[in-house]
Amino acid sequence: MLNYRMLTPGPTPVPESSLQKLGRQVRHHRTADFTAVLERVTQNLKQVFKTERSSIAVLQGSGTSAMDACVSNVIVPGDVALVLYSGKFAERWADLVERYGGTAIRYEVPWGERFKPEKVKEYLDANPQIKAVYGTLVETSTGVQHDIAGIGQVVAQTNALWVVDGISGAGAVELWTDDWHVDLLAVGSQKALMTPPGLSVVAVSPKAKAVMESTPNRRVFYLDLLKYLNWEKTQGAPFTPARPLIEAMDESVRILLDESMETVWAENVTKSQMVRAAVAAWGERIPGIQIVAERSADALTVIHVPDAVNVKELLKELELSYGLKLAGAQGDWKGRAFRISNMGMVDVTDILAVVSALDVVLSRQTGVDVLGAGSAAAQKALMGK
Ligand SMILES: Cc1ncc(COP(=O)(O)O)c(C=O)c1O
Repeated sequence: MLNYRMLTPGPTPVPESSLQKLGRQVRHHRTADFTAVLERVTQNLKQVFKTERSSIAVLQGSGTSAMDACVSNVIVPGDVALVLYSGKFAERWADLVERYGGTAIRYEVPWGERFKPEKVKEYLDANPQIKAVYGTLVETSTGVQHDIAGIGQVVAQTNALWVVDGISGAGAVELWTDDWHVDLLAVGSQKALMTPPGLSVVAVSPKAKAVMESTPNRRVFYLDLLKYLNWEKTQGAPFTPARPLIEAMDESVRILLDESMETVWAENVTKSQMVRAAVAAWGERIPGIQIVAERSADALTVIHVPDAVNVKELLKELELSYGLKLAGAQGDWKGRAFRISNMGMVDVTDILAVVSALDVVLSRQTGVDVLGAGSAAAQKALMGK
């Protein structure tokens, strides 16, 4: 018998007390008690994202619905956007901009690299008509944590909006929405927010709200953010909200804030350092095991492997023999890398377990004895050595 442990970058495990919210009879949403829940969770989400000035819209749909809203509420035919283009999810920003009739200028860097604020400035100076800059906090396909603060400082000097996909990062890694000048932040429920898939959240700054209000020909209906922000008319829910999921998210967000975001961020730094240390130890004995990311994220680690390692078999063995569910890589990196997420309820014990299991699986697959190597390195990182 195996105890299923999920270390995937979404979905992530959900706390027991949040799950209990899902097992109750469905109740109507146009009630004072549900309005109170929605008010509380939006206030609390502001604390998670470190924003006082933004308003929060809770949407039905996975993270992509929040991305969709961040484009359809801003971009109309003829508009120009700058897309920070590196990784599968960054590509989605460009697809969305073009789908809504905009022109996407791509500032592209190879997978694994970070965008440079000074280069963003060059693009903005050369193209003053840019209405929004679309970027990603943690690009889940490459494992890179981007410089949201540095780029935000540059974008804030212009009329453009700074739009950030925080789907894989917000609630897991350091993020100061106001201080980093983020105007639209897209987040999904199923990652650091420790809620089942099905909800997404957008934090909307006053600057972003003003842009939406002055764009009357927006091609958007269901995801019209202004409707969600119009509490007087809609109480935050212009359409039937997924009340059970929102109640589960309310509980999970409470748990996060009980710890404090600073504590949660610090825990994720420790967990990801443990993984990085193990990768370095394996790489010393098995050339090709490495992290390619210029700044490996504190939310997940993308681990490249040499041909001697069969990623599909590795993932299968981890799941069937050890009950450890991990994700493979995406796009061009598929088959050449796998991913360990440490977001949400994944704790240091889970990390010790997965690293230890990998000591065994990697030794078996490559014929190189790395037994104890990853584990010792992870343990030392945990002890701050
Ligand atoms: C960074 C990032 N953006 C966007 C998405 C898409 O979110 P969803 O699959 O919830 O629509 C994901 C999902 O993995 C993600 O990691």
